[in-house]
Amino acid sequence: MTSTHAFWLAGRQATGEDSFDVTNPWDGRLVGTVAVPTDAQVEEAVAAAYAVREEFAATPAHVRAAALDHVVRRLTERTEEIAQLISAENGKPVKWARGEVGRAVSVFRFAAEEARRFNGGDAQRLDTDAGGTGRLGLTRRFPRGPVLGIAPFNFPLNLSAHKVAPAIAVGAPIILKPAPATPISSLILGELLAETDLPAGSWSVLTVPNDKMPALVQDERLPVISFTGSGPVGYSIMESVPRKHCTLELGGNGAAVVLGDYSSEEDLDWAATRIATFSNYQGGQSCISVQRVIADATVYDRLVPKIVAAVEALVTGDPSDAATDVGPLVSEDAARRVESWVDEAVGAGATLLTGGGRDGATYAPTVLTDLPGTTTLAREEIFGPVLYVQKTHGEAEAFAAVNSSKYGLQAGVFTHDLQTAFRAHRALEVGGVVIGDVPSYRADQMPYGGAKQSGVGREGVRYAMDDYTYERVLVLTGLAL
Ligand code: SIN
Repeated sequence: MTSTHAFWLAGRQATGEDSFDVTNPWDGRLVGTVAVPTDAQVEEAVAAAYAVREEFAATPAHVRAAALDHVVRRLTERTEEIAQLISAENGKPVKWARGEVGRAVSVFRFAAEEARRFNGGDAQRLDTDAGGTGRLGLTRRFPRGPVLGIAPFNFPLNLSAHKVAPAIAVGAPIILKPAPATPISSLILGELLAETDLPAGSWSVLTVPNDKMPALVQDERLPVISFTGSGPVGYSIMESVPRKHCTLELGGNGAAVVLGDYSSEEDLDWAATRIATFSNYQGGQSCISVQRVIADATVYDRLVPKIVAAVEALVTGDPSDAATDVGPLVSEDAARRVESWVDEAVGAGATLLTGGGRDGATYAPTVLTDLPGTTTLAREEIFGPVLYVQKTHGEAEAFAAVNSSKYGLQAGVFTHDLQTAFRAHRALEVGGVVIGDVPSYRADQMPYGGAKQSGVGREGVRYAMDDYTYERVLVLTGLAL
């Protein structure tokens, strides 16, 4: 795969004056060269999105749904090719990349379904006071305007799908900006959308360099920004455009709580396997991967060796090999940062139970205990294949440990007790609580997003559709109610 990839400008392919290379983090191989739009081309895409906004909002639901259905079919047909591509540019093991394509299919399928039933209208009688006699309020949702979607590298196809599919479902033009490390998986969406009848200008995929983004973020013709990525970048975007509608999907340091009632051998084997797998899937580069394991003192001594054994059983290596569980991180720089945080933790007194070594962009799946709370690893999101286990006594202490983080994306609670599940739902300051599994569980129709510094707003197709639109009431007068 060494071709030059055009970007998508208002529905058609274009190249600019510049380009950049995308390389495979596993072996440094060139995956492709990607064209960069000029400032004038970016302006053309924004102007086209703005110009088409009314026409697109008025497009019949069946047209938008049919386009979304088309993407479902074509993604399904091209699954293997696209999975290989995601794996090549991201370094994600191909088995996880296949899963990502399957999830993107679901996202477009949900969007097609929602497009057909969205905005049916909500009628409200207004004759509850004398002044409202004969009046009826009819509320429908309308697009806020063109959306700027900014996608991350860790799920380059599916998190692009989460920006694009809801926009098409509501009839809001979208400009998608892929991550510089993984643009080709996002550009593929353009190939599929170009096969549809969606109006020109209703979508663009622009490989704009990060240093050119502030101008696009500021552009008043793009009133909605949907960003997935790091906290510092997300908050700097939101603070730079306080009057825009921003959705921020930011970081997390996902906690898996194993409570005292989850104590049979079978229970602990399941918990250990899930924790090991979902601390390390995609090299831990998911905002909901397991970073913290909070284990009740009554199960701690039996659980920890099981986690270590399950982590050591993971196959690390070439991401294109179907047997590989853990591949490289997105870059050698990313692996070096992970290495420095683990080294700092061990230097501060943490106990290294397994892992702790780097080879190029690959970092060994790592388990630590006794982590001092002052370390970077204890406070920040590692975004790498590293977990640490801490011992707690009872439910209240465990829930307080989860909440001691500045992040609050999702938490997993291994318990069999329904009352505990409800108490966890009430107590945990996160966007999602998963009972009987790790925090990493996500179904793409669920509301997904953070509390505290994990973000603002929710994705999950229907929730993003709400976010991209606003309610407008129509008051009818003189009716025989
Ligand atoms: C994320 O990293 O926030 C996305 C996780 C997922 O979609 O599974």
